[in-house]
Amino acid sequence: MRISVTLLQYEHGIIRQTVDVLAEVIKSGKAKDKEAEVKELLSFLVDYLDEFHHAKEEECFYPHVVELFPQFKDEVDAIYEEHEVARRMLDDALSAIEEEDWDSLGRHGMNVVRHMTAHVEKEEDDIFPTVDDNLPLDKDEEINECYQAFNLPFGEDYYQKAEMFANDIQDRLLGKGFFDKGIF
Ligand SMILES: [Fe+2]
Ligand SMILES: [Fe+2]
Repeated sequence: MRISVTLLQYEHGIIRQTVDVLAEVIKSGKAKDKEAEVKELLSFLVDYLDEFHHAKEEECFYPHVVELFPQFKDEVDAIYEEHEVARRMLDDALSAIEEEDWDSLGRHGMNVVRHMTAHVEKEEDDIFPTVDDNLPLDKDEEINECYQAFNLPFGEDYYQKAEMFANDIQDRLLGKGFFDKGIF
């Protein structure tokens, strides 16, 4: 186990949760009635997904991946491109909600959902297992120090706040315990 990979997987958990909430609120047709909350959710995704998670991957994690595992060079180039696409999709979804264009919000919002679900899956299935098995411990430490410096401006309790926000917005948009009612 490498802490540099585990932390990104933890961050993916919050991304998956909030993106699933976005998918459910769009599919149930409730976005119009919950305009303020959907706007809050999209703004959170701009902060947490783009400015925090993707920026940190690009600053601290992937430069080492490319250096130590050159077989991933093309895939990492594609990942950087996908980070930009995610940012544009979020911008489009936010513009749609500003304009109160609900069809457009549905389209752009579902683009974010599909794109991010596939992106996280690609990182976790294609890249993380190799890094987790082969990253030297001193590099793991170096990446982790980079994460800590990167996290500083976001505040000490940023993870805690992000987790609380994800649970709170889920309850406000879908009702308490929504995902507990599943098949498990
Ligand atoms: Fe990524
Ligand atoms: Fe990621």
